[in-house]
Formats: sequence, structure tokens, C-alpha cells
Amino acid sequence: MTEKVPGLDLEQYSGGRHLPDKFYDYFYPEEDFEVIDDARQARIWGSDNGGLTVYTEAEWLELFRQQDLEKLASGIFWDTLVKEVNRTNFKLPEKRPVDILDLACGRCKEGRLLNSFFGSEEPFEFSDQVNLFGIDTDSESIESAQYANGEEFDVETAKRVPSKNMVFIAGDATRLEDYPEIPEQVDVVVIRHQQFVGGPDYLPGQAEEIWSQIISNGIKRLRPGGIAIITCYFQIESEPVKKLLEGFSGKIVVDEKNEFARDRDDEQSILDDQYILIFEKE
Ligand SMILES: C[S@@+](CC[C@H](N)C(=O)[O-])C[C@H]1O[C@@H](n2cnc3c(N)ncnc32)[C@H](O)[C@@H]1O
Repeated sequence: MTEKVPGLDLEQYSGGRHLPDKFYDYFYPEEDFEVIDDARQARIWGSDNGGLTVYTEAEWLELFRQQDLEKLASGIFWDTLVKEVNRTNFKLPEKRPVDILDLACGRCKEGRLLNSFFGSEEPFEFSDQVNLFGIDTDSESIESAQYANGEEFDVETAKRVPSKNMVFIAGDATRLEDYPEIPEQVDVVVIRHQQFVGGPDYLPGQAEEIWSQIISNGIKRLRPGGIAIITCYFQIESEPVKKLLEGFSGKIVVDEKNEFARDRDDEQSILDDQYILIFEKE
């Protein structure tokens, strides 16, 4: 099925920090956009017809040229950063790049947004003043993260070119000491959709052990004044994380429902980043 996405004029928003409201009319919060290599098709989840839209390569490239559709993806996390990080006392380092550590990053859909938020202040404008280190046990996600977060887009291969400012590691975030490429200290830790409470993939007690270790590892790597941004699918999942954070020197400066997340009553909603915690290290 081929369905054209209504045109959006991104230019008019280029001076502001918020993505267009219209974005939300046409896309769901956690837009999922990827190129299917074999078929060389692009598929776009959740366009305004509420379903999966598949474009042929030619159609997709044309759309890409017209609108840079990737710029429309992941908008919700941008707005969340704008509101919540600006409520903290976090200060960008003056004489060196910002170091960000994204633990259990999956495909790290937020990678380019983090880069531009902490480096340039314009959504999707790439900054070389941000170093991002992402780690996840799922090697397929890590490969995808590498390509999805590159600065340049190569229309020949229909892939982004991996960025030298982003290092993605297929590895275990409970054992950060095994990866010397990850800096000892970072300015920002990001953990999206932590799994402390577990789920069907975990044995009883296992998730708590793994995730308390992952989160503790992140907090320990924070520089003084650094922040950890931790999001949850459900508010209830934030409770054990808050208890854990109490054991570290610093304070929770953001602890609230994310106003930009889609309402849970919306039957097509994806429960992304429903609840957000930000911890500021002393
Ligand atoms: C709910 S997903 C969230 C992924 C991503 N942060 C996001 O928000 O889309 C949880 C992720 O934790 C990863 N994970 C689980 N245990 C891990 C570990 N010990 N080290 C690194 N990643 C882990 C999984 O592979 C999965 O990608």
C-alpha cells in the first residue's frame, strides 16, 4: 500500500526548539522509521491512516528529498528534553565536548536528538561537540543504532553513515568496566524505558538485580553536576528506581508524568517515556 504523507513545512520551524504541532497529527509519538534493506523499501509505522505504510524505494527517496522524513521522527523525546532538562541545574562544559552514556540503548532512536539537544540546540542539526556512547546486549539493535544515528545520509545505500562521535557497543551494561572505550566519567546518562520491574523475559528477581546494577553503573559514572535521564513505560516502574537513587549523593530534580507522552487511553498510543526521572549528581 502506498500512501503519501501530507506535506509539512519544516523550514518555518527551524528557528524554534519545538517540532511542529502538526507532527503529532500525522505521526505517533515514537515514530518508527527504517529502511528494509532486502526489499529496499522504506516502511513507516503509524502514518495518519493508523497503519503501516510501505513505500517503494523510488517513492521513498522522493519523499526523503522533499521532506527529510527522518526529521519528523522521535519528536516526542525532543520536547521532553527541552522541558525537563531545562528545569535542572545542568551546565554544558565550556571547553570540551559533552559526554553522553546511553545504557541499554536498543536502537538508540534518541541518538541524533541527544546530539543536537546538547550540542547545537536545533533539532537534528548535528554537532561534533557531543560524544555519545551507547551499549546494549542486543547486537542487531546496536548495528541499527550505528546506521540510524549517523550524520550524513547516503542515498545510494539508503543508510546513514556511522558517525565518529557515536560509539555503539554490543555488550552488557552491568559490566561497564569491560569496555575501556566508555569514559570513566560522563556528563549525561540516558536510560530509556528501564526494566527494573521486569516482565515476561525475566526470571523472578532477575530484572531487579540487572537493572539496579545498570542504573548504579550509570550514576557512578556521572561527573559532579551531571544528570541521569531515566524514563519508564509506567509510573509504577519509577518507584524502585527512586529508592535506588536515594542511595547516591545528589537529588532527583524531575519526577513526573511526561506531559508529551501520548495519553494511555488513546488506543493507538505507544506508552513511550510515560514517566520521567532526572537525577542530578552532587
Ligand atoms: C525496553 S528496551 C529499551 C530500549 C531503548 N532504551 C528504548 O527505549 O527503545 C530494554 C533494553 O535493555 C536491553 N538490555 C537488557 N539487559 C541489558 C544489559 N545487561 N546490558 C545492556 N542492555 C541490556 C535490551 O536488549 C533492550 O534493548
